[in-house]
Amino acid sequence: MDNNRRPDNMTRITTPELAQAFIDEQVKLLREQIGSDKVLLALSGGVDSSVVAALLIKAVGSQLVAVHVNHGLLRKGEPEQVQKVFRDEMKANLIYVDAVDRFLDKLAGVTDPEQKRMIIGGEFIEVFAEEARKLDGVKFLAQGTIWPDILESEKGIKAHHNAGGLPEDLSFELVEPVKILFKDEVRVVGSALGLPDGMVYRQPFPGPGLGVRCPGAITRDRLEAVRESDAIVREEFAKNGLAGKVWQYFTVVPDFKSTGIKNGERCFEWPVIVRAVNTRDAMTATVENIPFELMQHITERIVNEVKGVNRVLYDFTPKPTATIEYE
Ligand code: XMP
Repeated sequence: MDNNRRPDNMTRITTPELAQAFIDEQVKLLREQIGSDKVLLALSGGVDSSVVAALLIKAVGSQLVAVHVNHGLLRKGEPEQVQKVFRDEMKANLIYVDAVDRFLDKLAGVTDPEQKRMIIGGEFIEVFAEEARKLDGVKFLAQGTIWPDILESEKGIKAHHNAGGLPEDLSFELVEPVKILFKDEVRVVGSALGLPDGMVYRQPFPGPGLGVRCPGAITRDRLEAVRESDAIVREEFAKNGLAGKVWQYFTVVPDFKSTGIKNGERCFEWPVIVRAVNTRDAMTATVENIPFELMQHITERIVNEVKGVNRVLYDFTPKPTATIEYE
């Protein structure tokens, strides 16, 4: 059988029992493939890499070296959650790299969205390669490639991110244990592996992270306003039953200020834009109808709790004409 392809007659993994059968088979295959060698994984905390990490921990334990790079553009609490779940609870061999200053220094003053993406992607590979070079005897590189990635690369829609574009001196054999799964199946497998719901059922989050929600040149203070307001929106959506219902929701802090009043005094501060959209495939999207009272409550919290913000706006624009993200 070609292990690289999803068999045409494969049953969709929708139950814990089916997930367990998949896990048992993969654990066996991973042990056969990896033997007593070491395997490296870039663990972002996203669904796919988290499920791959959990599978590898089950299969080869401390032969897995997981590297979590904090590029400073992660959401509030994410680096902490990755360390708690994988290092503290699953006892993974986890290397945490605080690269916040490195990324933000490189991004300082850069306004072009595509250049920002290139810097974030390029710097990520450099940081990851530096960590890989410090390790001895790593033969394998694990990746969270999923079935739609393979289909899209075959159709020429998206370049398959094979080996993440690592420099040539780092040549690893690939380990891709979820490559025949659809996203919903990866989630079911993740739950069966004991990963928390907050990790398995989280909303999509772009690779360049909060960087594309801080339009124009990223500054630390405005980035902090994005991170804090995003945390408030996520908390309120969870509390009000919207977290599992709305496809993607977040905040953006544009680079302009307007006049307001705080404590009886004039202030000149940023607005926060709240965006909440529904879609099936992210090619088009509709705007969520958020209860007015909830928006009022979110507004009150953001202007009172987030430093440097005096207004909250809601984005009513579907895709098209607007894209989901702002850059
Ligand atoms: P747009 O903004 O194009 O977004 O309507 C569609 C979906 O793709 C996500 N997105 C990205 N994901 N790297 C990613 O990994 C990116 O550079 C990127 N840009 C957008 C976006 O969050 C939405 O789910």
